[in-house]
Amino acid sequence: MDVSVIVPTFNEGPNVRELLRRLDAALTGTAFEVVFVDDSTDSTPDIIREAAAKTDTPVRLIHREHPTGGLGGAVVEGIQASASDWCLVMDGDLQHPPEVIPDMLARAQRGDADVVVASRYTAGGTSDGLANAVRTGVSRASTLLTKAMFPRKLHGCSDPMTGFFLVNRPAIDVESLRPRGFKILLEILARKQMRVAEVPFDFAERYAGESKASFTQGIRFLTQLTMLRFGRMSAFALVGGVGALANLGIMWALIGFGMEYIWASIFASIVTIVGNFLLLEYLVFADMREDSGLMRHRFLKSFTFNGIEAIIRIPVLWVLVERTHIPSVLAAALTLIAAFIVRFLFHALVVYAP
Ligand code: GDD
Ligand code: MN
Repeated sequence: MDVSVIVPTFNEGPNVRELLRRLDAALTGTAFEVVFVDDSTDSTPDIIREAAAKTDTPVRLIHREHPTGGLGGAVVEGIQASASDWCLVMDGDLQHPPEVIPDMLARAQRGDADVVVASRYTAGGTSDGLANAVRTGVSRASTLLTKAMFPRKLHGCSDPMTGFFLVNRPAIDVESLRPRGFKILLEILARKQMRVAEVPFDFAERYAGESKASFTQGIRFLTQLTMLRFGRMSAFALVGGVGALANLGIMWALIGFGMEYIWASIFASIVTIVGNFLLLEYLVFADMREDSGLMRHRFLKSFTFNGIEAIIRIPVLWVLVERTHIPSVLAAALTLIAAFIVRFLFHALVVYAP
């Protein structure tokens, strides 16, 4: 086996046969297998099995009943399961033309690269298939931001957000990967210095169906970037900061509506406690949820902690306001900062303990 083609799929039924047909045509003379890592909720797995029976190409299907890590998690599972050390990762919607793969294999054969990236942003490549100007702008801006954050590791890579690349598995530090959401190449390149080569390609339009990219994926990406660059505590701080601002904003609004500041603070705290927990679950500690028991147990621990914290914080707030006469919203800000530090320690060491 020269190469394993890894295709993450989520409800891509109508694209499967055309993808296999074009792979077969593009890779005649190359020994390859196709590994679909599928998280679909529709009949895509049946379509894959059916198509597999009709071709001579070895096709494997890994259907995940309990998907973790989204698209990135699926790619990592595919890489771990592949028969060849060389793994070609591509989308299942034909936005990544199979006809580029021979160029990528030829580039890898030179022997001086661990990763061959198919790039939209190098000379000869285009990103016309990005559905609209907003997505093009977002893609360009996030590429710039990412390259600025990892100048050395992403040197020589013009498209760290592409999902189309060929990688030599032994060169990856698989254990260090924390796949979350869409940007798995970034995760691979940022964890370890890799030797990167590029070939240009034209990002095509989708063959059938709709993109699964979303605003939530964008937020996941920003969390991933923060955690890769600055570590978990800073992502926690960011969530805490957003929560604290929301807390104060709600308090300020309620006081504006005529509510007593103590009640306003209690109400604002309850709303932010629940909101913060959800952000921690799905963003900051997403990779640790698996191994730390049931969500409702974590919520109970987290809620109890924050409840106790609030119960201590509210009298402290009262004392601060009544004794020192600093404005109530400023006093609340001071108590929130003190509470933050204790809260990070508790969550990292107790709530998300394996
Ligand atoms: N297994 C699995 N699980 N596959 C998924 C999931 C998931 O949760 N979400 C999406 N996929 C699959 C899709 O079925 C498709 O084959 C591929 O991942 C890309 O998803 P699209 O919905 O087509 O995303 P896109 O076209 O917006 O994003 C593409 O462009 C980005 C750069 O602009 C992808 O190539 C990204 O990887 C790339 O970063
Ligand atoms: Mn796509």
